[in-house]
Amino acid sequence: MLKNQVLGFLGGGMMAEALITGMLKSEVINAENIFVSDPDKQRLATLKNKTGINTVKTNIELTQVANWLIMAVKPQVVSEVLLAIKPHITTKHALISFAAGISTAYIASYLSKTPVIRVMPNTPCLVAAGVSALSYGTNAQPEHGQVAEAIFQSVGQTVTVKEELIDAVTGLSGSGPAYMYIILEALTDAGVQVGLPRKTAAILATNTMFGAAKMVLETGEPPGQLKDMVTTPGGTTIAGIYALEDGGLRVTLMDAVRAATEQAKQLSK
Ligand SMILES: NC(=O)c1ccc[n+]([C@@H]2O[C@H](COP(=O)([O-])OP(=O)(O)OC[C@H]3O[C@@H](n4cnc5c(N)ncnc54)[C@H](OP(=O)(O)O)[C@@H]3O)[C@@H](O)[C@H]2O)c1
Repeated sequence: MLKNQVLGFLGGGMMAEALITGMLKSEVINAENIFVSDPDKQRLATLKNKTGINTVKTNIELTQVANWLIMAVKPQVVSEVLLAIKPHITTKHALISFAAGISTAYIASYLSKTPVIRVMPNTPCLVAAGVSALSYGTNAQPEHGQVAEAIFQSVGQTVTVKEELIDAVTGLSGSGPAYMYIILEALTDAGVQVGLPRKTAAILATNTMFGAAKMVLETGEPPGQLKDMVTTPGGTTIAGIYALEDGGLRVTLMDAVRAATEQAKQLSK
């Protein structure tokens, strides 16, 4: 899929490294077709040593060697990068951005004719278990989406959403890992409270969350049905579920996603 493309990462940070590692591992592209620019020479040398990719000295040089540009800098640096590369962008270029809060319309205000795909990934991409939502800017065609999908599927799953839903994605899967960490921490504490050693409780809690998510993914059954299957009349699980409902867990999680979505909307204004 990506064998005939040349990818240029504007910024060689954590997320760039995760994507490069994922793509090379899943063999969707060869290292010689990936270029990275970053102001930190040491960082570039480390990336080159670890992955075998090419490095260039400037973002402008990157536009000359790559047809796909991947905006991998922090959001506050995006405008400066767009301004610098703008005179060097031609019809051969397309751009992927995963800078939080930066819309395709904002990028189009610099690069009006360039196909742009906006992506909202999450941190588990760093361990190839991420989920990323893609949305298309006005000039982006399905073939551009296919390239973005190939890149982000190398570090997890992808979905496609309308751009107005990107803030909702941020509230659910972008911020979601933190909610899961809190649940894991609380379950571990709960295990300690009922007498388990902390290490044992942590292994039990973490693998229970992982296993339940895997069951949902692999069986395709709705979580409610899987829950019913393990809830015997008068048993232990229904006693636990009663306590969860009594504590308002569902409403709390819905409130959390809504609050994070609202915050994402505010920040991207
Ligand atoms: N990490 C995640 O899970 C995640 C999730 C969703 C979205 N994102 C988005 O992904 C983007 C990158 O995040 P990250 O965590 O990978 O950040 P990061 O590790 O800080 O990487 C950004 C890299 O860009 C470099 N850089 C700074 N100015 C530059 C310039 N003018 N030209 C080229 N490179 C430049 C930085 O170098 P210096 O350090 O020397 O400044 C750094 O190496 C952000 O926009 C963030 O919103 C990340």
